[in-house]
Amino acid sequence: MKIGFFFSLLLAFFIIFSSNFGGKHPSKSSNSTYIFPSTDSLSEEILGEILFNDPILSLDSSVSCASCHIKEYAFADTVPFSKGMNGSKGKRNAPSVMNTAARESLFWDGRAKSLEHQMHFPVQDGLEMALKFSQAVQRVSHHPFYSKAFQKVYRQKPDSSTIVQSIAAFERSLETTNTPNDRWMEDDTLNGRGLTPQQISGRNVFRSEKAKCLDCHFTPDFTGDEFWNIGLFNGKELNDSGRFSITRNPQDIGKFKVPGLRNVAVTAPYMHNGMFKTLSEVIEYYDNPSKFIKNPINIDHRLSKPLGLSAQEKTDLEAFLRSLTDDQFASKFPNR
Ligand code: HEC
Ligand code: HEC
Repeated sequence: MKIGFFFSLLLAFFIIFSSNFGGKHPSKSSNSTYIFPSTDSLSEEILGEILFNDPILSLDSSVSCASCHIKEYAFADTVPFSKGMNGSKGKRNAPSVMNTAARESLFWDGRAKSLEHQMHFPVQDGLEMALKFSQAVQRVSHHPFYSKAFQKVYRQKPDSSTIVQSIAAFERSLETTNTPNDRWMEDDTLNGRGLTPQQISGRNVFRSEKAKCLDCHFTPDFTGDEFWNIGLFNGKELNDSGRFSITRNPQDIGKFKVPGLRNVAVTAPYMHNGMFKTLSEVIEYYDNPSKFIKNPINIDHRLSKPLGLSAQEKTDLEAFLRSLTDDQFASKFPNR
């Protein structure tokens, strides 16, 4: 009897544990207890993943990094503006945290220099997690699992640098290169597993003088980490001045960091303000920005005239953007 009871208890723990860490949040409720894994086989990345999913880093323990960076959607959010603590709405769209290992700066305005630096912002942001970083460190150090886990991984107590190091290590592990486009780049004779003929046409459009996408979306992640103004600032209803808010250089008004395009088919909505719901809307915008926004301020000269893409070029271009989706998402979202 006793042994049977012991085993059902063990099974219950196992179920709770696997549902917690297989999914995106350990739990959203503030007073539940989590079952943490054994610290024996813990790595820096796994520790970071656990913290990423744990609402311990928000003031009322209701919001985790994963609340806004949802694993199933390439760690981006599905709404234009994510909700932080007490349902407060943020001011910008939450981007994917995948493929950030090579980024030179983070955030739409580039205000963070590294993943380690970046993490201080959401934790302390009043609209997001609203917790003083020193308090976050206190909490993590007093937590029985984390105090043991940090000892195991870093041979010391959790502190502000090891906490950010662990989450950054997790984020750096999220590089995705199992895509039709990557396979095609390695071997352009692959039929079916590489690019389809339509995607190859779309790739040519992407790289063309006419569409100019490659001018700004270059490098293996399709961003050169530069800041440009594609016309989404008019000082009225579109009043996020982007890079200017950091540099105060008038030339930077309305410039935003060029986002990478890996997995872009699963990270809708698009742009710093999430104003476009689909990739075809994005392409329509680039084709003729003035159809969408009158009197943009400081728009890049490359976008000041309509591109004049044909209907065929637009659908091919969209097909190419879909070839940048990693297999892990393509299998879940066959129609994206
Ligand atoms: C309430 C929603 C929310 C929470 C919680 C949140 N984020 Fe974010 N995250 C955002 C938004 C919105 C942005 C873009 C903000 C901006 O650019 O000004 C962002 C940007 C980022 C970026 C930059 C990506 C890039 O390409 O520039 C990283 C990395 C990131 N978050 C990681 C984290 C981590 C780690 C945590 C937990 C400690 C976290 N986020 C918690 C909403 C959230
Ligand atoms: C002048 C530089 C520039 C050119 C040319 C350019 N882009 Fe962009 N792209 C950007 C910037 C900057 C953003 C972010 C703008 C913002 O949020 O305000 C962006 C955003 C995007 C997004 C949204 C990604 C997301 O995660 O929200 C997609 C998709 C995209 N571009 C595709 C393209 C395609 C396709 C072309 C060619 C037709 C193209 N871009 C041409 C600079 C450029």
